[in-house]
Amino acid sequence: MDYRRLGKTDIEVSSICLGSMMWGSQCDEVEGHRQMDYALERGVNFIDCAELYAVPPKPETRGASEAIIGSWLHNRQDRDKIIIASKIVGRFDHADWMRPGGKPPRHTKEQIDFAVERSLKALQTDYIDLYQIHWPDRPREVFGFHSYRDLGIDDMIPFEETYEALSRHVEAGRIRALGLSNESPWGAMKFLQLSEKHGWPRMASIQNVYNLLSRRFDYGLAEIAVREDLGLLAYSPLAQGYLTGKYAGGNLPEKSRKKMFGRLERYEADHAADAIDACLTLANDLGLTPVQLALKFVETREFLTSNIIGASSMAQLKENIDAHEIKWTPEMEKAVHKLHVKLRSPCP
Ligand SMILES: NC(=O)c1ccc[n+]([C@@H]2O[C@H](COP(=O)([O-])OP(=O)(O)OC[C@H]3O[C@@H](n4cnc5c(N)ncnc54)[C@H](OP(=O)(O)O)[C@@H]3O)[C@@H](O)[C@H]2O)c1
Repeated sequence: MDYRRLGKTDIEVSSICLGSMMWGSQCDEVEGHRQMDYALERGVNFIDCAELYAVPPKPETRGASEAIIGSWLHNRQDRDKIIIASKIVGRFDHADWMRPGGKPPRHTKEQIDFAVERSLKALQTDYIDLYQIHWPDRPREVFGFHSYRDLGIDDMIPFEETYEALSRHVEAGRIRALGLSNESPWGAMKFLQLSEKHGWPRMASIQNVYNLLSRRFDYGLAEIAVREDLGLLAYSPLAQGYLTGKYAGGNLPEKSRKKMFGRLERYEADHAADAIDACLTLANDLGLTPVQLALKFVETREFLTSNIIGASSMAQLKENIDAHEIKWTPEMEKAVHKLHVKLRSPCP
C-alpha cells in the first residue's frame, strides 16, 4: 500500500480509502466490521463516512454507517492508527428529518455545532480526522450536471460563518483537518483564500466524483489540487458498478445496487452505454480486468490523494484492493488518454 499526505497536514492516508455509504442499507454491521478488519490487514488506514449515510438517504438509516464504524472503533485500542473521515450534509431543502425541529440542513454555526457533536457520538470517538463539507450551501446543481447554470438565487450562509464555525472545532481538537466535497473550482479557491485571510485551517482535500466516465475534475480542479495541495479523494471510481461490466448488455444482477435501489442516473444517459463499452473493450485490449483498469487509472492520477472504493461483498473488496498491485505502464496511460480525447467526460 502507498501512503500520501493529506493536503499540508501531518496526516498520512493510504492511497485506497474504504467507503462506507452502503453500511446500514445494503450491508449490515457484521459485514461493515468484516470489511474494515480486512482492509486494515491490507494496509488501508482510511475510512470515509458521512452523517447522511446509509445511502439511499432516508430518515430510518441516517447515521447507520457512522454507528457501524463507532461500534467497531469502540473495541479497538488503535484509534490513532485509523483515519476517520465524515461529512456534514450540504444544503438539503426538503430533508426536514436531518435536524432537530425539522429545519432543512444549512451550514449555519448552530447546525455545524450540532452535526459535529452528533457524529462524534455516533462514531464513538473524541475526534474526527477529516471533516468534510459534503456539498456546498450555496444554491447550485451538485450531482451529475454538464455545465454550470446560474440559478439566480443569492441566498447562502456566508462562507465566513461556516468556515469560522468549523475552525473552532479544529481549535478545540474535535476535528483534525477540514475538507471539501462536490466543490467547484470557484468554491475551492474561495475557501483557500479565506483560510489565508483569517488564518483558519486550510482545506486539506476535495472529495469529488472521478472515474473513466466522469472526468470533470480534470478541467480546472486538477491544477488547483496539485498547485494548492488540495488532493482529490475520488468517489465512485467504478461508476457505481458500471465500470465492472456487470450491467453490460442490460444485465441486472441480483443484489446489485441498481437492482436493489433503482436507477443510477449519472451513468444511464443515452450515450453512456457506448462509453462504458469502450472502457470495457479497452481493459480487454490492455490485458486487464475492467476493475483493474478503472481503479488503477484513478489511483495513478497525479492529483489523487486517495481512491475511495466501495464493496458489497468480501470478494469485491479483495478484488478492488488487489487492483492496487497492477503496474501502470506508459502504454496504459497513452491508451486511456486516447479514449479520453474521444469520450471527454460523458457522465459528469
Ligand atoms: N462525497 C460524495 O458525494 C460521495 C458520493 C458517492 C460516494 N462517496 C463515497 O465513496 C465511496 C465509494 O463510492 P461508490 O460506492 O459509488 O464507489 P464505486 O466503486 O463506484 O461503486 C462501488 C459499488 O460497485 C460494486 N462493486 C464494487 N466492486 C466490485 C467488483 N469488484 N465487482 C463487481 N461489482 C463491484 C458494488 O455494488 P453492487 O455489488 O451493489 O453492484 C459496490 O458497492 C462511498 O462509500 C462513499 O464513502 C461519496
